Amino acid sequence: MSFRRIRLAGLEGMAFASRDGAALEFAASLGPLRRLLARMATKTGPGFTEAQPAAAAEATAGDALAALKQRIGAINWYHTIDLGNGLRTPGAFDHAPVLARYNLPASFAGQRVLDCATFDGYWAFEFERRGAREVVALDIEKVGDIDLPPRRRAAMSEAEKNHKVGAGFALCKEVLDSKVERKVCNLYDLSPGYAGMFDVVHLGDVLLHLADPILALQNLRSVTQGYALISDCFWPELDRYLPATVAEYYGGEGENAWWRPSEAALFRMVHDAGFRKIEVLSRLTYSERGYLSKMYHLVLKATP
Ligand SMILES: C[S@@+](CC[C@H](N)C(=O)[O-])C[C@H]1O[C@@H](n2cnc3c(N)ncnc32)[C@H](O)[C@@H]1O
Repeated sequence: MSFRRIRLAGLEGMAFASRDGAALEFAASLGPLRRLLARMATKTGPGFTEAQPAAAAEATAGDALAALKQRIGAINWYHTIDLGNGLRTPGAFDHAPVLARYNLPASFAGQRVLDCATFDGYWAFEFERRGAREVVALDIEKVGDIDLPPRRRAAMSEAEKNHKVGAGFALCKEVLDSKVERKVCNLYDLSPGYAGMFDVVHLGDVLLHLADPILALQNLRSVTQGYALISDCFWPELDRYLPATVAEYYGGEGENAWWRPSEAALFRMVHDAGFRKIEVLSRLTYSERGYLSKMYHLVLKATP
């Protein structure tokens, strides 16, 4: 058996070779990515001399990394997710720079957490990282399940409507070696029958995409045993109509926004869904990557 230390795009690892094959072992600090690359790096066949296999292992690991980068490149990402050792998904939104400003609990140790509308799973993986005992990630199955106005839906092809969502989540789960379970469900159908009750329920940036955000919030409330973390967009200029709690109707066209609520309207929706104690954890702004316009976010902790 021979060993050789190697570097692949910033990954430091150990190529090892024996008479009957070659493989790659990364340093323990590489964590899940190490395990994934090790799984992807297939053994070479017989016929190698003692001198050749380490180079073969290096090439195989290089191929595995290139294949992983290709898989990442084939996905249209929403979330920017750190896969370790310099690999990040090129998402439209990068929450990492503003994460601390959400003022979320530092630990979810021992808790059963539901992440609603998970998309690529940034929040679900973050809750797992913060010690959740179990994380369930809810999302729709296909593009056609989005709450679209009938005219827009009619203009879509069957292929567009049947396009499955969740490829990004699946790839991240694999690379991060995560135990988060993605279970398909429409927020309009969420009930305790879906997956029981949860200590913590998270809902991020989806209410504006729903024609009936109140029903979604009521359903959310029905599975919340401990508290809900709700972060969504609001339009502060509409709070000038206070004490009226105003939401501008947008109709689901364009970016599929149905409503633009004021802060007071968003707060009131959560209250009316049956939550009794509501705390404002944060108000923050951030932008889509490459855009200057700021989106205002309200982060609420709501207790039934
Ligand atoms: C703007 S992304 C928000 C992603 C993530 N929750 C976050 O806060 O970063 C909207 C997500 O809502 C999901 N979604 C849209 N309509 C839904 C519905 N009726 N039920 C469940 N999920 C829905 C989409 O598939 C997508 O994952």
